[in-house]
Amino acid sequence: GQTEVGGRTELLGEGRTTERRPSKVAIVGAGVVGSTLAYACLLRGAAREVVLFDQNRAKVEAEALDIAHGIQFTPMGTVAGSDDVAICADADVVIITAGAKQRPGQSRLDLAGATIDIMRDLLPQLVDVAPRATYVMVANPVDVVTYAGLKISGLPENQFFGSGTVLDTSRLRYLVARECGVAVQNVHAYVAGEHGDSEIPLWSSAMIGAVPLLQWGQTVDGGLLDEAVRGRIAAEVVESAYRIISGKGATNYAIGLAVVRIIEAVLRDEHRVLSVSSLLEDYLEISDVCLSVPSVVAQDGVGRRLVPVVTEVERSGLQRSAESVRAVIKRFGF
Ligand code: LAC
Repeated sequence: GQTEVGGRTELLGEGRTTERRPSKVAIVGAGVVGSTLAYACLLRGAAREVVLFDQNRAKVEAEALDIAHGIQFTPMGTVAGSDDVAICADADVVIITAGAKQRPGQSRLDLAGATIDIMRDLLPQLVDVAPRATYVMVANPVDVVTYAGLKISGLPENQFFGSGTVLDTSRLRYLVARECGVAVQNVHAYVAGEHGDSEIPLWSSAMIGAVPLLQWGQTVDGGLLDEAVRGRIAAEVVESAYRIISGKGATNYAIGLAVVRIIEAVLRDEHRVLSVSSLLEDYLEISDVCLSVPSVVAQDGVGRRLVPVVTEVERSGLQRSAESVRAVIKRFGF
């Protein structure tokens, strides 16, 4: 017999295993972020089918072809590219990287108007062909665009969220690991708030191995992981993108890897805690804004938002970050 489960037909025969359609990821935007993300998805075997959609036909076909020529060397997967939105049909996850590009010295919030205009055009077309997909915004300013996109798409808030500070969290962990001489996988710290200048490292709930970060003590150069060093690291996280953009024009590798991690958490139903950007209600008295906080990500998208113990400095920093994002959201009428 056949059963309809979440829109997928599962063939349940005598002793036969359930046959599921292979997982499909649709990446909107074949710029440097979108094409790097497609490449990373294939390399990690994150999805069986990866498609790229971009209005620039020559570009999207070339990016897809260049990746396709290498799939002998990757886990089993397929890749295709088109300027027709139909290529996104029935995707399980849709990643939106199409948006205004941050130029040297520009803040992400400066890009809001241009990116929201792109969303007004794209989202209705995408939801029409992939109504059941989990949508992940990457385009900047990602918190503002996630909030606007949620309203434009009409999708439920669990099904539509942003990459947020997953990348900033990775940058923080990299810098702390280097300072303390431990593997980055053993640094458990989150950056919360805006994916941008007002973000907040949650130092007081951070752990390094079995030691609270604030009690770490000696760093590799013999100093202490004190407030001055933590302040330098926090500033370096905020400056990262500006520094890379001034050097090579854009960032792409780390954001690509961060988004593959989000895709895997959804497609493999991992219930992984990631600092994605989602609509907050009554979160430390913050409501009606999209902001990054540690959240459980699984096949139904974003679920429980975790509330760590925070200091007054962290709590007020989050409030300020929420105000900064909300001010831009209101400026564009959402
Ligand atoms: C960065 C971009 C993705 O932070 O905003 O690199």
